[in-house]
Parts: sequence; C-alpha cells; structure tokens
Amino acid sequence: MAREFNTVGVVGLGTMGAGIAEVLARTGLTVKVVDIDDAGLARGLGHLQHSTERAVARGKLDAAAKAELLGRISTSTSIADLADCDLVIEAIPEHVELKSRLFAEIDKILGPDAILASNTSSLSITEIGVHTGRPGKVVGLHFFNPTQVLKLVEVVRTVVTEPDVITDVVAFVERLGKSPVVIGDRAGFIANALLFPYLNHAVKMLEARYATREDLDAAMRYGCGYPMGPLALLDLIGLDTAYEILDTMYHQSRNRLHAPAPLLKQMITAGLLGRKTGRGFYTYD
Ligand code: CAA
Repeated sequence: MAREFNTVGVVGLGTMGAGIAEVLARTGLTVKVVDIDDAGLARGLGHLQHSTERAVARGKLDAAAKAELLGRISTSTSIADLADCDLVIEAIPEHVELKSRLFAEIDKILGPDAILASNTSSLSITEIGVHTGRPGKVVGLHFFNPTQVLKLVEVVRTVVTEPDVITDVVAFVERLGKSPVVIGDRAGFIANALLFPYLNHAVKMLEARYATREDLDAAMRYGCGYPMGPLALLDLIGLDTAYEILDTMYHQSRNRLHAPAPLLKQMITAGLLGRKTGRGFYTYD
C-alpha cells in the first residue's frame, strides 16, 4: 500500500508555490509554507486569498470551506518549522545553486524517511539531489500554471530515485485529484520539451512580421482547439520564466529550435514580462 503524506511543506510562495499550497489544503492536508521574508509570505497569501475568493464567487467553495482551507496552511520564514513534514515541495526561483543550498539545509532538518521534491521546470533533479544525504528520496514534482486548474503533474525520477518513492509520490498526486506522468531527468521533461519549441517559434514568426499577434493566437485557438494562443500563453507563463526554460533546454540539447528568440530577451530587458507586470505581448489591467 502506498504511503500516506499528511503534513506537507512548500518552500517559496510565488505563483506556483501558492497554487500548490492551495491544492494541498483543498485535499485536506496540513500545509506548512516557508518564504524568505514576511513580504514574500504576504504576497503569497495575497495569491491564496485572491484565488479562493474567486472560487467562492464562482460557487465552488463556501465561506466556511474557504476559511477551513486557509486554516490548514501555516506560514513561517524559517525552514526549521518544516521538521515534521513527510514531504517538502520546493518552488523557489529557478537557480540551481539556490535550490541545491536549500535542499542541503532541509535535508538536515527532516526525518530520514521524508521525501524532498522540486517543482523546477527545467533544472536537473539529479544535480539538486546530490547535495542531500538522501538522493534516493529526491524527485521532481512539476505542476502546471494555473495549478488549481490544470491536472498534469510530472513526476521526475533520477537514476538513483528509489522505486518505492516514485510509487508513493504517484499515489499522492492522484490523491490531489491530478494526473501524474513519470519521466526521466531531462530538460523540459515531457510537456515543456514539446511546448516550448512551439512557443519560441511563434515569437520568431512575430519577430519576422510573418503574422500579427492576434492572427498567430487565433490560428492555434480556432484551428487547433488550444485554449490559448502561444503569445497569450507566454504572457501567462511569464517571459522571464519562458526564457530560462528555453535557455536551459538549449544548453542541454544544442538544438536551435530551443535557442530563445531575440525578441524575448528584448522584451524582458524592457520589463515586459507578461501578465505579472501588466504588459507582455498584450496589455493587462
Ligand atoms: N487560478 C485559479 N483558477 C483559475 C485561474 C487561476 N489563475 N484561471 C482560471 N481559473 C479557473 C476558473 O475559475 C474556471 O473555473 P470553473 O470552470 O471551475 O469555474 C476555469 O479555470 C476556467 O477559467 P475561465 O472560464 O476564466 O477561462 P478559460 O476557460 O479561458 O480558462 C485557462 C483559462 C484555464 C487559463 C485556460 O485558458 C488554459 O488552460 N490555458 C492554457 C494554460 C497552459 O497551457 N498552461 C501551461 C503553461 S506551461 C507550465 O505551466 C509549465 C511551466 O513549467 C512553465
């Protein structure tokens, strides 16, 4: 029988961390979230408030259930508070040194059977895991944005991840109401490896004035049934995040389909990161 996880930690309360914490609390788990400072926690709690209020407004959650959900989430700025977690999911910025240092610190605090997971979208789980004394209990758990809505979670195994750990984590993802897929430790895993060359190509087509942004997006929505066109999706993901994913994939593969379109870099430099800054390929209120 698969192992039960009851107390789960989340480190990093950005868009993804807050979404993951909400999904965990919705499942009835005790959730401990840690961010670097009070400002980070306040921003993350703002995401949680906004998202649960939206669920109440849509009749998906009543006010009492919302209060109960938020009551399952406790916050801290100290990773020492994660000591009794069975599983910790890291969702901090995509820098391998930062993640490796964090994993080494958490490893010292957790019980010997606890599992450490990273929500990284493209960094190597193997490289992060070797900084702990338990690389066999380190996995990738890659959620998709918006986390509350999208069902996919990629479970990433390294050459040293223990098979039982994968079985337990897959059962855990199913308990969250999500659909797990298992994949080896390669940049982009499954979904991003297929998605990002396409998104990048759309930016290159726009850059070459091949078609307007509206027509590029309309073609994929109305011709292929995608919920969003590629440029609107890049605005949702964040152009900085998209650039980092493409750059990591390019460095690993040397495939020119992964070489980030120059326009992406220019927009990032100009501060046009997408929805989160109010402007990307489109403008938002
Ligand atoms: N938070 C919580 N709930 C949200 C939400 C959010 N940010 N955005 C939408 N929703 C919910 C809505 O409340 C609504 O729920 P109900 O139907 O239960 O009431 C449902 O999603 C549909 O929303 P809308 O009717 O407002 O809009 P929509 O039908 O156009 O769907 C969408 C919006 C879910 C974002 C949809 O357009 C979509 O799936 N787009 C593609 C997103 C995608 O491809 N994401 C993957 C990005 S890649 C990634 O994440 C990996 C990585 O490593 C970067």
